[in-house]
Parts: sequence; C-alpha cells; structure tokens
Amino acid sequence: MRPWKARIEDKEEKERKASFITKSWYGDDTFLYQGFWCDTFFIEGLMRAQQNFRSQPSDIVICSAMKTGTTWLKSLTFAIVTRFTFDDSTNPLFNNLSHDCVPLLEVDLAQSSTNRDPKNPLLATHAPYCSLPRSIIDSSCKIVYICRDPKDSLVSLYHFFARYLASKDMKPPALEEAFELFCQGVSSYGPYWDHVLGFWKASLDRPDKILFLKYEEMIEDTVLYVKKIADFIGYPFSFEELEKGSVEKIVNMCSFENLSNLEVNKSGKHREGTPAVIENKMYFRKGKVGDWENYLTPEMAARLDSITLQKLNGSGLTL
Ligand code: A3P
Repeated sequence: MRPWKARIEDKEEKERKASFITKSWYGDDTFLYQGFWCDTFFIEGLMRAQQNFRSQPSDIVICSAMKTGTTWLKSLTFAIVTRFTFDDSTNPLFNNLSHDCVPLLEVDLAQSSTNRDPKNPLLATHAPYCSLPRSIIDSSCKIVYICRDPKDSLVSLYHFFARYLASKDMKPPALEEAFELFCQGVSSYGPYWDHVLGFWKASLDRPDKILFLKYEEMIEDTVLYVKKIADFIGYPFSFEELEKGSVEKIVNMCSFENLSNLEVNKSGKHREGTPAVIENKMYFRKGKVGDWENYLTPEMAARLDSITLQKLNGSGLTL
C-alpha cells in the first residue's frame, strides 16, 4: 500500500475509534455502546448478560442511571419483598449494604442467571432500556425505574467519583470539566437524558410493566410511594399491615438517616477482595433535593435546565 494511503486510512481508523472510545472524567476508558457511554467495568458484563440472562416472570428489575437513588430504591424494594421472611431486627439490611442484597445484572449475573438466591426476585441494572436483555423486555417481569433532577445527579456523581479517585490517590477532575462532559452526554450510561427518556417512553407504552419514579417525589411522600411500589410489584400491604404501620416502619428503616448511620454503612466495604472494592459510606452523601445549588453556578444550572427542556420537549416528562 502507498504510504499516503496508509496514512489516510490510519487517520480514518483513529477518527472512527475516537468516536466510539473516549476518556471518562473519572479516568477510565468509556465506550459508546448501543448509543450510551458504557464504562470498562460494565461493558463486558453487559454484553454477556444480554446473551445469557434469562428472566423469570417473578423477577423485579430495579433500573436507574447512576446516582439517582438506586441504593435507596433497592433498600425499599428489598424491605417490601422480605417483610414476611424477616422481623424488625433480623432484616439483612441491618448488616448489609443494599447493593449486597440485590445483585447487579451486568456484574453479578453476567455469566449466568442461575447463581441467584431463588427466594430473592430482585435484581438491578444501570443499563439503558434499549440494552436490557431481551428476556427482561419480553417476559412478564416488572421493572421499577428511578430518575432524578440531572443537576443533583451530576453533583452526586461528581462527588462519588472525586471520593473514589481520592481513595485511590488519583486526582479528581475539576467540576467544570465533569460538567462539560455531562452536558455532552459523556457520563456512566449517559447521555443521562436519553437514559431517562428510554424508560419514560417504555413506561407509557407498558404501564403495567414499568413503574417510573422520581427521587424528588419519593422524598416528598415516601409512604405513598412505598405503597405504590408494593402494589406494582405484587406485594401489596394488607389492611392490617396498613393499620399497624408496616409501611412507616419500612420508610424509617430505609431512611437516609437510619441507613447511613448503620455500622455496616459507616465502615463496611462493597465488593471487598476485588479490584472494584468501594467503601459503603460512599453511597451515602447528603440525600437531599436541590444540593446542586451549593456547587453549580447559575449559568451552569441554566445550561443543564435548557438541555433538559430541549431533550424532554414533547415527551410529557419534566425533571
Ligand atoms: P447525594 O450524593 O445527592 O447525597 P445511587 O444510590 O443511585 O448511587 O444514588 C446516590 C444518591 O442517593 C446520593 O445522593 C445518596 O446520598 C442518596 N441516598 C442514598 N441513600 C439514600 C436514602 N436512604 N434516602 C435518600 N437518598 C439516599
């Protein structure tokens, strides 16, 4: 091949690759897969899960983009489905982070769907709707999705990775840098707005299959949403349970104050003994609505709001 032709082809190949691989703002490579930026930690497992995972009709799949309230939703759903198995003092949530009670599809169930506790119908994923394994879409299992104001999600994600990188003696990026990439759609399983819209549209098409939740609304009236979730996933509260305050007990048990003060969540570690080890306390920061005001300038907030308006335009969804 003539040298000039090789040079052109090399340049084209580099450009092609560059549009599919980039550096995330937390240091790792991230890959554009099925329209979403997927981190090194997840991509292989997600591909495997797409091939291997077989969903059961009784499954309940917790879906979310990162930093939208997954830890909380996992705790609430786990407490709802296990309330007849454990009493107030024996629930595994007292000694385990909720991520250790609800397996993550693209990590824990990537090889096979059979290494699950048969008594636990819950699993979780950060995958976008279009990347869910076919059997989850086709089976009659339920999906519960949670989303959050992108301004708070960004701030939460930024702090999470800043703490994570600091724990590995790595320098976190500037918030401005993270913000710019987030706006361009480059974040874990981003673009964030496309992630939310995928589940939103699917929930309109199949309201019996997908329950679409917002973090802010759940914070506002958690009791109401715990009842809604329980009804939706087929574990409704009986009249007697409602009378004796079973819903309020679950709400209190899974509150930010309670969970973040448990010894396991103050000093325990998730995925201990693996390179992906992470301190449980990293999943609990403030648990507040509107904390973005303490970090984003009015200009940054306005830019995010305008992207949100543009992206959600005509969908009927507001964030
Ligand atoms: P902040 O960083 O804004 O505090 P995820 O669980 O998807 O990783 O999301 C993490 C966010 O949920 C963090 O938000 C965290 O503090 C908040 N969170 C964790 N547990 C919670 C709870 N029990 N109630 C409300 N928010 C909670």
